[in-house]
Amino acid sequence: MKKEASERSSFSGKFGYVMAAAGSAVGLGNIWRFPYLAAKYGGGIFLLLYLVLSVTIGYTLIVSESALGRMTRKSPVGAFSSFSKKPISKASGWINAVVPMLIAPYYCVIGGWVLKYFVEYCKGSVHELADDAYFGNFIANSGSVELWFIVFAVVTLFVVFTGVTKGVERVSKVVMPLLVVIAILIAGYSMTRPGALEGVKYMLVPNFKNFSIMTVVSAMGQVFYSLSIGMGILYTYGSYLKKDVDIENSTNQVIAFDTAIAILSSLMIIPAVFAFAGGTPEALNAGPALMFITLPKVFDSLGFGTIGGMLFFILVLFAALTSSISLVETSVSTFEDELHLSRTKSSILMGVITIALGTLSALGFGVLDMIHLPHIGSILDIFDFLTNSIMMPIGAAATCFLIIKVVGTKKIEEEVSLSSKFRLKKMYDVLIKYIIPVCLIVVLLSSIANAIGLIEI
Ligand code: TRP
Repeated sequence: MKKEASERSSFSGKFGYVMAAAGSAVGLGNIWRFPYLAAKYGGGIFLLLYLVLSVTIGYTLIVSESALGRMTRKSPVGAFSSFSKKPISKASGWINAVVPMLIAPYYCVIGGWVLKYFVEYCKGSVHELADDAYFGNFIANSGSVELWFIVFAVVTLFVVFTGVTKGVERVSKVVMPLLVVIAILIAGYSMTRPGALEGVKYMLVPNFKNFSIMTVVSAMGQVFYSLSIGMGILYTYGSYLKKDVDIENSTNQVIAFDTAIAILSSLMIIPAVFAFAGGTPEALNAGPALMFITLPKVFDSLGFGTIGGMLFFILVLFAALTSSISLVETSVSTFEDELHLSRTKSSILMGVITIALGTLSALGFGVLDMIHLPHIGSILDIFDFLTNSIMMPIGAAATCFLIIKVVGTKKIEEEVSLSSKFRLKKMYDVLIKYIIPVCLIVVLLSSIANAIGLIEI
């Protein structure tokens, strides 16, 4: 059933919107993905680029997507088609809408890893987990990875299907601040270990020697991923937004909060890579495994590591769960709105997609490890690359194109100005018309060049 404007529920106000947007923004992207990318792509220089890109391109795209959502009161496919009936318009909406459907499955695989670590800490395996080989052995064991993935995915699907999302949101309002407190404590401990200062320097001081085109590409992909841009989420949130909520100001708050958590997580993990693993290039290049290899060493060196590990992983589990719920929920409502399926059928369809694609990613480090692209990695990395480095730039470019060619920046300015001073209007204009389209093309071409091995990272 199509939801009409009057039936759409709305956020209670700015606070509700910021919390919802921040809730979907803060997740494994901040705690797991940002630190491993920062470690791999040059530390301080990655951080610097990330900051610049998030307040320019990130800001502009969040404002655009939220304004388009609020203007049309529709999610992406509907929003695009409401401006133009051309097939390309509908396709552009779908590009945005498909991304969460492809992220959700592998997100649940990582959620499963987190769950496994939580359970192991509960069992008191604090020494075993700190072993260098532990993580590698675990992910190579396909049966075990699949099992934890299924548990995490089923919990996510159950919450979405039964509609108890509100309850989870209430829990996460308590969990988020707690997570911040624990992360500050862990970061403080990590940074004061012998040898950790080198890691703090690596993370905070830009070193231009570490710069490469892939630093830009990965920083940009991370801006998209972490702020949930280029995938229709913010259209949907914008469509629930009341006309008097200050879009500009809320956007700034979401970016600030999200970035703060990403930096905090890096300060927890990267100094520990230096203190416990010497900060060698191999240690820094661990990729998706980094958090799971490094943090257990920190907990093992603590007197109360079992409790520390349990507490940390349960909090991360909640952060991951709120994000995976929001990913699945968005996809389910796209099916309801666009394919006119019932809620039950939409949930079943998304359940099948999640389990099928997630299983591929889960098995990709074990029985399916022959499927491996030389410049990208395992199946999970391939999904991550496809969504973040290929589809999101295309989705974002479609939004730019819609604004430049069809809607006009004037309309967006009017929409934003209903409730904001829109001080950065000039910057917004230049970015959306010229800079962002060029950057997106560069990112897309570099991603493709990297994938086929034309440029080396
Ligand atoms: N931003 C989330 C994170 O940092 C991940 C994510 C990407 C997401 N797209 C999303 C979460 C859509 C919810 C909805 O972990």
